[in-house]
Amino acid sequence: MKFETISWKNRKVVLIDQTKLPGKVVFVECSTVKQVWQAIKTLKVRGAPAIGAAAALGMALGVSKKNENSFSVFQKNLNYLFDYLASSRPTAVNLVWALERMRNIALRNKDKPIDLIKQIMFKEARNIIAKDKQSCAKMADNAQSLIKKNDRIMTYCNAGMLATVGMGTALGVIYRANQLAKNVKVFSCETRPLLQGARLTCWELSTNKVDVTVLCDNMAGYLMQQKQIDKIFVGADRIAANGDTANKIGSYSLAVLAKFHKVPFYVVAPASTFDLNLASGNQIPIEQRSASEIRQNWYKRPMVAEKVKVYNPAFDVVPAKLIAAIITDFGLIKAPDKNNIKRVLKP
Ligand code: MRU
Repeated sequence: MKFETISWKNRKVVLIDQTKLPGKVVFVECSTVKQVWQAIKTLKVRGAPAIGAAAALGMALGVSKKNENSFSVFQKNLNYLFDYLASSRPTAVNLVWALERMRNIALRNKDKPIDLIKQIMFKEARNIIAKDKQSCAKMADNAQSLIKKNDRIMTYCNAGMLATVGMGTALGVIYRANQLAKNVKVFSCETRPLLQGARLTCWELSTNKVDVTVLCDNMAGYLMQQKQIDKIFVGADRIAANGDTANKIGSYSLAVLAKFHKVPFYVVAPASTFDLNLASGNQIPIEQRSASEIRQNWYKRPMVAEKVKVYNPAFDVVPAKLIAAIITDFGLIKAPDKNNIKRVLKP
């Protein structure tokens, strides 16, 4: 089954509301840029490539709302929309990457009538969506040399159809493996505090008839010790020039456990997730989120005493040396480091 995570219908950005899954499949319609911003901020739409695509459509929507009579006034609005949408979430670089593409295409066409520039921007947003679908399919193919029949694969957070507009990054690899009759089984960590693994990955995989078992995050080490896991595949939010990879909080712990148990840890991400301007993962901004997500989000009553301070970073960074390979739409980057990344991403 393929559902449309993000689409453009009747002059609105339409998103599957991921905060309602797995209980309800509900779509939200955003007719203003503020609604798109809020949908990204509150994780109605989430996952690095998906928020890039949503922001691109949000920017196209935003420019369509005004009637400017000069390019300089149009450009002012463009810059405002860029900064506003970019402020929704700081870690996934795909967001700023998509906004930059949108702004650049407008600037490159500045001599054209403003109405035409707006149409060109819509086309660019659609190109970003089409490109994401293609990239997911390429990553899925590129990873197959790493997957054997009956592999037991652990994954973290959600790097699937819900996190992209295509077949997913890490989960796309699993879908393709099973299309090739590899009979892969998945162990999905629930992914505290927002449970993207339990709520989203398990829903998505079971809906698509993949054998999936959920586990609490603190059970991952035990499962590896029992030799029940052959490899780990995760997505990424931002990859620095040296291969250090930011992904959902807990990815680092999983990678350390994997190293100890000699389980290969693979990252699957498109070229748009690389930020070659950053020398290392230390420079990646880490989003801090609300205390309520830990205190009470899933509970009928608060689970943390009122005066206790809460630490809630949404991402951590896996050092490149813990990553066996990064699977990109341009090919495999084994033993990721500055040179190996440059060699593969060059095209
Ligand atoms: O906070 P989220 O749900 O947006 O975090 C998402 C992740 O960490 C994903 O693993 C990452 O964006 C890759 S999605 C293909």
